[in-house]
Amino acid sequence: MSSIDYAEKIPNNVNIAGDRTLQRALEHWQPHFLQWWHEMGPSDFESADVYLRTAISVDAQGWAHYGAVHMPDYRWGIFLADAVADRRIGFGDRMGDPAWQQVPGEYRSTLRRLIVTQGDTEPASVEQQRLLGHSCPSLYDLRNLFQINVEEGRHLWAMVYLLHAYFGRDGREEAEELLARHSGDRDKPRILTTFNEPISDWLSLYCFTYFTDRDGKYQLKSFAESAFDPLSRTCRFMLTEEAHHMFVGETGIGRVVKRTLEVMKELGSDDPARIRAHGAIDLPTLQKYLNFWCSSSLDLFGSEISSNSAANFASGLKGRPDETQYDDHNLRNASFKILIPEGEQDVPMLNALNEVMRESYLKDCEIGLKRWNRQIERAGFDLRLTLPSSRFRRSIGAWAGLPVDPQGRLISKELFGKSLEDWIPSEADRAFVHSLMKKVVQPGKMAAWIAPPERGINNLPVEYEYVKLH
Ligand SMILES: [Fe+2]
Ligand SMILES: [Fe+2]
Repeated sequence: MSSIDYAEKIPNNVNIAGDRTLQRALEHWQPHFLQWWHEMGPSDFESADVYLRTAISVDAQGWAHYGAVHMPDYRWGIFLADAVADRRIGFGDRMGDPAWQQVPGEYRSTLRRLIVTQGDTEPASVEQQRLLGHSCPSLYDLRNLFQINVEEGRHLWAMVYLLHAYFGRDGREEAEELLARHSGDRDKPRILTTFNEPISDWLSLYCFTYFTDRDGKYQLKSFAESAFDPLSRTCRFMLTEEAHHMFVGETGIGRVVKRTLEVMKELGSDDPARIRAHGAIDLPTLQKYLNFWCSSSLDLFGSEISSNSAANFASGLKGRPDETQYDDHNLRNASFKILIPEGEQDVPMLNALNEVMRESYLKDCEIGLKRWNRQIERAGFDLRLTLPSSRFRRSIGAWAGLPVDPQGRLISKELFGKSLEDWIPSEADRAFVHSLMKKVVQPGKMAAWIAPPERGINNLPVEYEYVKLH
């Protein structure tokens, strides 16, 4: 089951060849995807040999194969985690029933919307990152960017497979639309705001992969619990790929911090102007980037109080990440305290699940912060990086549009307006960060604003020529 058939036009482990209609539909979509990749994927670099990993099986041990690939020849395919025998629904009102192998009619449109919304983020991020290759800080980083890009392309395939296989004509139409919307497009933007934000520098890329890919992890984890078994199996395998994306974010920010601390020690100063003059990114500027991307990603969890989240849980469509860690899987009698501008409210737990998820997400985000702060502490500096409050700069939910500072305090509109550029990157900050973004492509060399990684990819040295440019 877990071996992948690479003799097929579309590599897969779901026996597409056994369903001619599905196979034809997907083979029809394939050239559209490749055209999209050509137009909206990484700009240039199509002829470069990139040291990429490709899935060759979906079992826990050694699913990845590494080798030099031209990105347009990457074998994007459809890989589902192995079926769990006699899998049962693990939460909600139908807990204990057999998991669904088909979409129940009453949940068809809701499930389709959930899958489309998830699917839309995958190509969106490729589009957001398409110009970054031209300013890579090293070949190692360039390779990681492209690895993420091809895997987000594969995640699009994962969602398109579900749409084609289980949603008939509507699903096929949605699959076309996934290629027609574009990040930041005035007329046809991507569905979620964060995925329309430009990512035009590498500091933003590391923040995006740290915060936004981590939101992706939480969404995928909650779908991995779904009663709709094909969705669960699809997302379980996607999670194994997603881990690398967050690794790029966490180690990327860690390397920026490391380099900045070296410069601070050299100068014996934490003066941002002097650090900048030395070609490194001062920590207050990094803090602003963290504030921006963290707050933007927090909106992706939705409103604090949500009847959709209640319905999706009760019906078994979407569980909590790591559902088995909880005792109560029904939640009909549970409640949760939520702070809204009017004060603390007791909310039925089912309606508070977005907030439950957002809180556990923020806890997960803290792990990197602790690591970076330990680096700063060891270097002997007082400054500490922090996460903004989940009420800061929200566009969705009870705190949407309210003037809240990064500590979560409601302040005057005037003070908020005046202070915002101290909290998120100003035009000048962005211009400075952009000024550092110069392409470095000699094997083993790093841009001056970032420290080298501790190790290379797949046990290769950092100096390995991860991308051979032609
Ligand atoms: Fe993804
Ligand atoms: Fe990702």
